[in-house]
Amino acid sequence: MDVARALARRRMVRSFDGTLVDPDWLDGLCATALWAPTAGNCAGVRMHTLYGDARPAFFAIATDASWRERSSRYEGLSRAGAIVVVTSRPQDYATRYGEDDKRASGLGALDAWPVPYWHGDAAMATMALLLLLEESGWSAALWGDFGRASGLLTWLGADDESLFASVLVGRDDHHDRRSASLDRAVAPRRSRVSRVATPPDAPAR
Ligand SMILES: Cc1cc2nc3c(=O)[nH]c(=O)nc-3n(C[C@H](O)[C@H](O)[C@H](O)COP(=O)(O)O)c2cc1C
Repeated sequence: MDVARALARRRMVRSFDGTLVDPDWLDGLCATALWAPTAGNCAGVRMHTLYGDARPAFFAIATDASWRERSSRYEGLSRAGAIVVVTSRPQDYATRYGEDDKRASGLGALDAWPVPYWHGDAAMATMALLLLLEESGWSAALWGDFGRASGLLTWLGADDESLFASVLVGRDDHHDRRSASLDRAVAPRRSRVSRVATPPDAPAR
């Protein structure tokens, strides 16, 4: 499958049929996804993979009991065959940008960063993983579980990391309830691309 086709075909799926995912295969796929670009070659993104009993344990930590009771999505999501929790290590970025060749950036301290590249790196690696899953015939949902981030990170033994999101992986059972987000009237993709005319006083190349 080519990249354009994988991009166009990929959709979030939030109801799985319970098929398990081979841990060695998915761990390898995550490592492949980590070919994604990384600012200053910080390599600060981590992927924590959860299989077997770690999956219900994840839901117990990452969601609350009242949500699990009232959500019409919980059951389908809980049948994910594996979960990948994507995190990053912000301090790696401050350390790297404090090194000799990057010091002039002024980004040697975390609070100096106007754009937190650790989240950018995490997003790039996550997108790479979503495309690789699409190519392999698996479905996935990106889950923004930041509301319970600190408990989740402690449970993972990753207190020094920053949570980006979790990727729930499984086989589509075709009982997904369409997300209300998809009914929003958003600007067409082509209209979100704007070609900037060369200003008359731009320096000649
Ligand atoms: C950063 C980010 C966070 C998201 N968090 C959630 C989430 O918590 N729950 C959810 O159901 N979908 C989540 N989504 C999925 C979006 O709702 C979805 O990508 C969007 O509606 C477009 O649908 P599509 O990906 O199927 O094309 C998230 C997507 C992104 C990029």
